[in-house]
Amino acid sequence: MTRPEVGKPPSVLVDQFGRQHIDLRVSVTDRCNLRCTYCMPLDASFMSQQKLLSFEEVTRCVCVASEMGVRTIRLTGGEPLMRPDLKRLIEQLTRVPGIEEVALTTNGLLLADQVAGLAQAGLSRLNVSLDSLDESRFEKIARRSGLQRILEGLEEAVRQGFRSIRINAVSIRGLTEQEIVPLAVFCREHGFHLRFIEFMPLDAEDAWSRKHVLTGREVHQILEVHVGQLKRSESEDSGQPSVDYSYVDGHGIVGFINPVSQPFCDRCDRLRLTADGQFKNCLFSTTDWDARALLRDGGTDKDLGFLLAACVNAKHFSHGIGTESFERPSRAMYQIGG
Ligand code: 5AD
Ligand code: SF4
Repeated sequence: MTRPEVGKPPSVLVDQFGRQHIDLRVSVTDRCNLRCTYCMPLDASFMSQQKLLSFEEVTRCVCVASEMGVRTIRLTGGEPLMRPDLKRLIEQLTRVPGIEEVALTTNGLLLADQVAGLAQAGLSRLNVSLDSLDESRFEKIARRSGLQRILEGLEEAVRQGFRSIRINAVSIRGLTEQEIVPLAVFCREHGFHLRFIEFMPLDAEDAWSRKHVLTGREVHQILEVHVGQLKRSESEDSGQPSVDYSYVDGHGIVGFINPVSQPFCDRCDRLRLTADGQFKNCLFSTTDWDARALLRDGGTDKDLGFLLAACVNAKHFSHGIGTESFERPSRAMYQIGG
């Protein structure tokens, strides 16, 4: 392994296109208790325990990233609540100087039991993935049951004081059209911020094709016809990829994350750390920067800083979905971290 030894790593993570990186998504496991068609294969095999970064190793990476300007950490999976004692990691991360927000993206199945502990540990915000409110369609998409438990988890999260909970719903043509209106009505009623995400070519079974992408624009039209008129509203958080709208009757916000039809790469401020300790500069990057090897081979924080800087420096301008040169990454969503 080559280790640059001279000088100091940069104090900000700015790439060749001037984008500064302040958000790090950390996957803590590739395991999951659902098998969503757009993410996992039915017969998934998982990383060995030994390959997973320990909480101490994750915290070390976050300390280095924070020194280089990272401000928000988003924990993800697989399903992050399957990682035993996750709240201990949250406690550690909220204490890292410079880190302003530790958020979690979960499928919600284990939320009811764990959310009190997460709140105590200092978790700032919750994103819950939920594609359907109908048990049989939920099972068709997630290939396992669990809708009721997720709804109980959401209730408990509200009881524990979480506000501005985001609900993420993936939009797939021929699969999720029926879910749009019930989800919108439900989220308006409960004060959840619903966001529709276009289906990306990150499914494990390689079924993605452009024709399966139900675009944000189409979902927007369905909402305006069946739920209520929408008007553009400023996103509360400029780093968010979602374009937000509010209902003109004042009840609720809905967002559209359109990576396929309207890529937002030009304002991307995200980096990723996979559960097996690889830095990635994009969901669609085909290269990994191996932090685990450095961590376990006596690498210094300076070495880690240089590794992260190299990762950022190599970032492409755009994911290029739909272009001839686009190459699907070999890892599926659950192996990268959504
Ligand atoms: N396309 C779009 N979104 C996806 N997610 C998982 N796989 C895909 C995909 N292929 C979403 C999940 C979750 C978030 C982490 O990523 O629904 O909300
Ligand atoms: Fe699990 Fe989330 Fe992937 Fe669904 S999308 S299989 S909940 S990691």
